Amino acid sequence: MKIGVIGTGNVGGTLGKRLADLGNQVFFGFRNPNTPAAQTLMDAGGPSAVATTPKGAAEAGDVVILATPWDATQAAIESAGGLAGKIVVDTTNPLLPGLTGLSIGTNTSAGEQVAEWARGARVVKAFNTVGYGIMADPAFPQGKPSMFYCGDDAQAKGIVAGLVAGLGFDPLDAGPLTQCRVLEAFAMLWISLAVKYGYTPDFAFQMIRRNAQ
Ligand SMILES: NC(=O)c1ccc[n+]([C@@H]2O[C@H](COP(=O)([O-])OP(=O)(O)OC[C@H]3O[C@@H](n4cnc5c(N)ncnc54)[C@H](OP(=O)(O)O)[C@@H]3O)[C@@H](O)[C@H]2O)c1
Repeated sequence: MKIGVIGTGNVGGTLGKRLADLGNQVFFGFRNPNTPAAQTLMDAGGPSAVATTPKGAAEAGDVVILATPWDATQAAIESAGGLAGKIVVDTTNPLLPGLTGLSIGTNTSAGEQVAEWARGARVVKAFNTVGYGIMADPAFPQGKPSMFYCGDDAQAKGIVAGLVAGLGFDPLDAGPLTQCRVLEAFAMLWISLAVKYGYTPDFAFQMIRRNAQ
């Protein structure tokens, strides 16, 4: 699969590298491809990694991973040009400075805002509820961590669920895009436990169920 990455930092870099390792062609949309971080990522991505611009990543990817800081997200989408028809995996969390909370939520969400900015894109929220260290290595002795995703396009969700599973998570459909409201709040639970309340970032959530299908 062809995958574009907009926002090539902790999350975009980690997911992009792992997806390249799995044989996908990954187009990293660097704002500046000449930084040491960009060079390191290209080396790590191997022959499946292509250095391009955010616009180039948007054009080339069938799936486009959006992994920008929240306050840069609208500008990043605009600089990417049209995302209509693309499957956009929105990993963002609308964090306040100091990780003290979310700047929007409850009756809307970053995911819904992304869908408005990226008009015509098929937005699926995923990968926002654990840290990038878990995305790099989701293997735990207790089994696969859960990865909730949500969106309004069933086919897009199916494709993203496949990527989630390929990366070693248990994909769980959390419902329509409005569920970003709770998934982004849920991310705050992970963040607060990881950075404030003593659990360190080396944990993930796992859903256990009776009568699971
Ligand atoms: N960190 C985590 O563990 C984690 C986990 C889940 C979700 N998230 C969410 O994922 C998103 C990314 O987090 P991160 O930790 O990966 O951030 P990060 O390491 O700071 O990386 C952000 C990336 O976005 C790029 N960027 C900034 N403005 C841009 C623009 N206008 N156009 C294109 N690219 C732009 C940066 O490019 P430059 O390199 O050129 O500055 C950088 O590559 C955030 O919304 C965060 O809340 C983070």
